[in-house]
Amino acid sequence: MPGTKMPALIHSCYILLLASLALSNICSIVRAQQNSTLIFAAENNIRNCSCSTDIPDCDYNLAQLMCSCKTVLLHTVRQAVPRFRYTSGLTVWFKDASTLGLLVNFTLVHDLKLSRCESTPLPTTYLAILGLRRLRVQSLSDALFAQQSLVISNDLGSNPKGSYAALSVDTKALLAIAYLDTALCNGNSSLKSYSVENVSNIGTHFPNLPYSNALAVSNKTYTVTLIY
Ligand SMILES: *[C@@H]1O[C@H](CO)[C@@H](O)[C@H](O)[C@H]1NC(C)=O
Ligand SMILES: *[C@@H]1O[C@H](CO)[C@@H](O)[C@H](O)[C@H]1NC(C)=O
Ligand SMILES: *[C@@H]1O[C@H](CO)[C@@H](O)[C@H](O)[C@H]1NC(C)=O
Ligand SMILES: *[C@@H]1O[C@H](CO)[C@@H](O)[C@H](O)[C@H]1NC(C)=O
Ligand SMILES: *[C@@H]1O[C@H](CO)[C@@H](O)[C@H](O)[C@H]1NC(C)=O
Ligand SMILES: *[C@@H]1O[C@H](CO)[C@@H](O)[C@H](O)[C@H]1NC(C)=O
Repeated sequence: MPGTKMPALIHSCYILLLASLALSNICSIVRAQQNSTLIFAAENNIRNCSCSTDIPDCDYNLAQLMCSCKTVLLHTVRQAVPRFRYTSGLTVWFKDASTLGLLVNFTLVHDLKLSRCESTPLPTTYLAILGLRRLRVQSLSDALFAQQSLVISNDLGSNPKGSYAALSVDTKALLAIAYLDTALCNGNSSLKSYSVENVSNIGTHFPNLPYSNALAVSNKTYTVTLIY
């Protein structure tokens, strides 16, 4: 009799539904716990680590112990074209502006933490960061602004040239470029940001900022964020 089978069928569908809901929950938890990348200079090389937990800033030994790290040769980093892109959070422990530039300049990263590990004052040089949404800067503990966080809203929804919606996530990120003065990592002042939308040519609009032609996306405008 179909009448007796129906409830059982509904019941098993219900269980199936619950099971798939549970599964999708587990999947989203796993996704939320995605490892983050930690990079620092060690001896004459770079260590590139994948960490499942937060490591206290500049604790190199703990990082080697707790994370899965590999060595990257300096010249490999120097020659890398295109520059790096990170889908997870990126933390960089640095001692000087040139290493910081090597690891971060023209890199695509949404969530970036920069931790200063040495007291040598940082000079003013500009770093270009693509697709940046959150920046955290950890200076030395005795700095006036030792720990800072900045959220940047890269709302590119109104890009006037061409159909913005059709662009890939990566291309959208390439259109949002943030400039950071490395001297801000000294922690002498509070971090602020200012965004300029609809910039068609960064080079003419901001002649003092570094600009890589490799970024050029034809017929699109940029949102340029100055962190100061
Ligand atoms: C670090 O490793 C990640 C994951 O393997 C990779 O995507 C990234 O490009 C590497 N970065 C450097 C500077 O080697
Ligand atoms: C995540 O990090 C842990 C160490 O913290 C490491 O053992 C594991 O291999 C990493 N997973 C990935 C996918 O890199
Ligand atoms: C970033 O790259 C630009 C262009 O190559 C360069 O002018 C600038 O000095 C670099 N910044 C750092 C901090 O290395
Ligand atoms: C950028 O362009 C869009 C579309 O033309 C426009 O709606 C928006 O107001 C512009 N923004 C600025 C700051 O000019
Ligand atoms: C900022 O801090 C550094 C030390 O971290 C110091 O050497 C430098 O003189 C300070 N600069 C200004 C403008 O206060
Ligand atoms: C860029 O815009 C110009 C004029 O609006 C148009 O002629 C050209 O085909 C566009 N190029 C691309 C790659 O969309």
